[in-house]
Amino acid sequence: TRDFLIAPSILSADFARLGAEVDDVLASGADIVHFDVMDNHYVPNLTIGPMVCEALRKHGVSAPIDAHLMVKPVDRLIGDFIDAGASYITFHPEASDHIDRSLQLIRDAGCQAGLVFNPATPLSFLDYVMDKVDMILLMSVNPGFGGQSFLPGTLDKLREARRRIDASGRSIRLEIDGGVKVDNIAEIARAGADTFVAGSAVFKARNEADPHRYDSVIRDF
Ligand code: DX5
Ligand code: ZN
Repeated sequence: TRDFLIAPSILSADFARLGAEVDDVLASGADIVHFDVMDNHYVPNLTIGPMVCEALRKHGVSAPIDAHLMVKPVDRLIGDFIDAGASYITFHPEASDHIDRSLQLIRDAGCQAGLVFNPATPLSFLDYVMDKVDMILLMSVNPGFGGQSFLPGTLDKLREARRRIDASGRSIRLEIDGGVKVDNIAEIARAGADTFVAGSAVFKARNEADPHRYDSVIRDF
């Protein structure tokens, strides 16, 4: 059986109180902190860097932090996020000149390594590195923003990724990212995902009665 994990994306959190927001979603049942890094070069948006990851660790966040690097070039930032306490580091193969080497950089530091596939990026980038990935992240939106709609074509790609993972015999985490909601998560799970990023579905569902709790939406997942 697969362990389904919920990874709220902090892109949709209130950045003026990020530590408390992360505490709240974790206290509400979330499993992993999805940390979206954007450099306004690889994607047309700019977010946060390693020092914020470090600040969350200093704040006391012990849950896994899943650093999704939407940056180019990627290698230098891999080192910075290793030092900042990231647990998973995933990057887009188009953003590295040496994919195998970038994956090895992450794993040599004891972090979990993953590749991220944009909607148009073929899974063939996995052909020679299946033994070097701990996670495969499929984008079900084009990267850069939260609150977009799930691209239905991703379901077939998920099934193909699941087939590749099962054929590899390795326990590789299959994460889906973009437009995941309470009303589509079951179908996405059936297609083979075991880890679900959710940004706006979690943070925009703030419980007005008790703004510190997200358990209603996380429990509904
Ligand atoms: C987009 C990010 C996603 C995004 C998901 O580039 O990688 O993680 O924050 O947000 P929702 O769940 O709102 O689509
Ligand atoms: Zn992401």
